[in-house]
Amino acid sequence: MSGQTHEGALWGGRFGSGPSFEMQRLSKSTHFDWRLVPYDLDATKAHARALKERGVLTAASLKALESALATIGKDFAAGTIAPGEQDEDVHGWLERILIDAVGAEIGGSLRAGRSRNDQIATFIRLYMRDTSRAIRHILIELVRVFIARSEEAGERIMPGRTHFQHAQPVLVAHYLLAHAWPLMRNISRIDDWAKRNNVSPYGGGALAGGGLGIDAEGIARELGFQGVMENSLDGTSSRDCVAEFLYITTQIGIDLSRVAEEIVILTSAEFGYISLHDSYATGSSMMPQKKNPDIAELTRGKTGRLIGNLTGLLATLKALPLAYNRDLQEDKEPVFDSVDTLLLVMPAMAGMIASMTLNYDRMESQATKGFSLATDVADFLVEQGVPFRDAHEIVGRLVAHCESQGLELHEASDEDLASVSSHLTPALRSVMSAEASVARKAGVGGTAPAQVARQRARVAELIEALDTD
Ligand code: ARG
Repeated sequence: MSGQTHEGALWGGRFGSGPSFEMQRLSKSTHFDWRLVPYDLDATKAHARALKERGVLTAASLKALESALATIGKDFAAGTIAPGEQDEDVHGWLERILIDAVGAEIGGSLRAGRSRNDQIATFIRLYMRDTSRAIRHILIELVRVFIARSEEAGERIMPGRTHFQHAQPVLVAHYLLAHAWPLMRNISRIDDWAKRNNVSPYGGGALAGGGLGIDAEGIARELGFQGVMENSLDGTSSRDCVAEFLYITTQIGIDLSRVAEEIVILTSAEFGYISLHDSYATGSSMMPQKKNPDIAELTRGKTGRLIGNLTGLLATLKALPLAYNRDLQEDKEPVFDSVDTLLLVMPAMAGMIASMTLNYDRMESQATKGFSLATDVADFLVEQGVPFRDAHEIVGRLVAHCESQGLELHEASDEDLASVSSHLTPALRSVMSAEASVARKAGVGGTAPAQVARQRARVAELIEALDTD
């Protein structure tokens, strides 16, 4: 095996020996780059055509190659082929089986004018382009679920929290839509990312550009890119588009983990705001009564690995000199893992949220707990001409009084009110309900029913305007 290109690899001529067992074991990537086969087949087909244009391949050779590639594509889709022990990577595998199919002369011509460096940089982009569409579809579905649930919540009210303490009442619909908007921004992140990165590194060769004058523009178009990257050193060695993609997947995880955390808390007996459908919950092996929110917990937990995939890649990319370095092979597993993770987690979250029961009576019964109408009373005093600083002070004293008496604000008698301040007249009872409280928040983005309806119409309109191919 010395002095020649060995089976399943694409180099060898200058070596006095074949690779050691340890070298081979470390170098091998077929166990993960196998999923890039469809992109290698597409690019190889485009490349073969470009070589024919340059007179490197005859029309008959091209035909033989196209038919072999089609057969390999079918076998791959059917799952009837697998990489061999000897294959270093997906590219070496493809050359080996093409040679088996069409002979060494034709099969061995395809490496002309390209390198694994420009190939792999291209394939990871194609993979991310396809899977980002799948992720985007489920994001749209999730937003639709939140829209539907918010519609069904009507004007029902729940406690709104800051610092996880009761703060002010809000519409349940407002709360649900608050989880839709971050998902909308992730859709727009994907669209921005796709626009910025839809250029092809193919034709960059190993680093300096392909030397055979192949039509890289034509290949880029055939692969669905809008053009070729302007600098071959950059094209073959930059991976910011991968880091950016991993950031988006991580942000989606983080946004879903916030929903997940709330579901874990709000399904507990202490809250009882939400009950999960049986088909989206799990039981305990020991405690017969248990009904656990495992989907929410796994979403929360798996967000950790999404963050890890992003930070791991950033660490790999830091301070890499131009141009291609083998370190860059480490970009693929985090991408594959983050995609697999989201494609598992997102449909489960969508189903859980669509099917869970919102216990409106329970939420509403707590909406004015914790003195959550205090700000409304202060605002009322401001409307009566009291400076806010004084109003804040007066209502603070009223809260302290009620707390010492074990009363909620609306339970205070006229005497209780008068004992705190002469500004606290019975007229302020008009603002002392959850309904009145939400109705007052009528500015843009506020929780007043008309604003929430407007907001829902807006997000629905934005979702319907998206292309969903
Ligand atoms: N498996 C490699 C990667 O993912 C392909 C490129 C290999 N290039 C090389 N010069 N060894 O980056």
